[in-house]
Amino acid sequence: MNILNQLIVSIVQMMPKNIVGFFSRKYIAGETLEDGIKVVKQLNAKGIYATMDVLGEAVKNKEESIDAKNKAMEVLNAIEKYKLMANLSIKPTQMGLLIDEEFAYQQILDLVKRAHEINNFVRIDMEDSSTTDMTINLYKRIYQQYKNVGVVIQAYLKRSFDDVVVLNKLGTNYRLCKGIYVEPASIAIKDRQAIRENYLKILKQMFIDGNYVGIATHDKYLIDEAYKMIREMNIPKDKFEFQMLLGVREDLRDKINSDGYKIRVYVPFGKDWYAYSVRRLKENPSIAGHIVKSFLTF
Ligand code: FDA
Repeated sequence: MNILNQLIVSIVQMMPKNIVGFFSRKYIAGETLEDGIKVVKQLNAKGIYATMDVLGEAVKNKEESIDAKNKAMEVLNAIEKYKLMANLSIKPTQMGLLIDEEFAYQQILDLVKRAHEINNFVRIDMEDSSTTDMTINLYKRIYQQYKNVGVVIQAYLKRSFDDVVVLNKLGTNYRLCKGIYVEPASIAIKDRQAIRENYLKILKQMFIDGNYVGIATHDKYLIDEAYKMIREMNIPKDKFEFQMLLGVREDLRDKINSDGYKIRVYVPFGKDWYAYSVRRLKENPSIAGHIVKSFLTF
């Protein structure tokens, strides 16, 4: 991380909660399920798919975790009721992974089972590296029973290519992203271009082995290279989609959509918006300018 980035991270971490809230409005659909549904309907009207996420991360106890699962169930019910072009994304720690692995497995299994009943799909997000093995194991166990579940691979992790070689054999449905958590150099690639190269190496292997990939990035370089790869390898349209976060690079998102490729937007909503918002602000290249302006205007 360069000095400017370190400075931005420190400033974002020191920002009062209301200022974080102000700047992160565009990344979040709102606090309620109704807010989430409204945004998904707007995206769907443009032919854009969604994946809905009830915000929240590591929970403190099983009660909180059960509450999170119930809210995720409500999302699946809403998708069915309103016939939304959407699926569900969940965070394993929110489902209790760090409290009791077996309990989290059951919770996620319940969600995947319900999604299966309504012909829908559950994406298991990938969190920091302390959870990678547990998350992959959990995914594999659930996949033995239901196929409407997929996992996320982070291109910055040095282990990811090897993980993919194994997971490809199952016929995994992936989301491939760069990775957002701060990880030590012993396990994570730090150089920006090297992460891109690993991303493309992994993407190619996923395609070679015939897996479905959600190509999750706002990086124009990666999107252009993915386009090239798709053309050169003659990958059919039912084997991939592009994915982006709500409120980020809408210009690119609309271009992918008008190019005739499937695109899915991650639509987070809920009361626990703070940790997610801080991560988005840290990634926003123009946030430094906004922060300077905010000091002048607040
Ligand atoms: P990069 O960060 O280089 O961004 C490329 C360009 O996009 C920037 O130059 C800028 O123009 C624009 N941009 C990016 N973020 C912005 C922002 N916040 N505001 C304004 N502009 C912005 N990670 C993870 O570890 N586990 C997960 O499960 C997921 N899930 C996930 C789902 C989906 C649908 C997406 C798109 C991403 C994730 N991620 C994730 C996050 C991912 O790992 C990564 O941190 C971000 O996508 C940023 O990386 P990019 O590939 O977009 O490149």
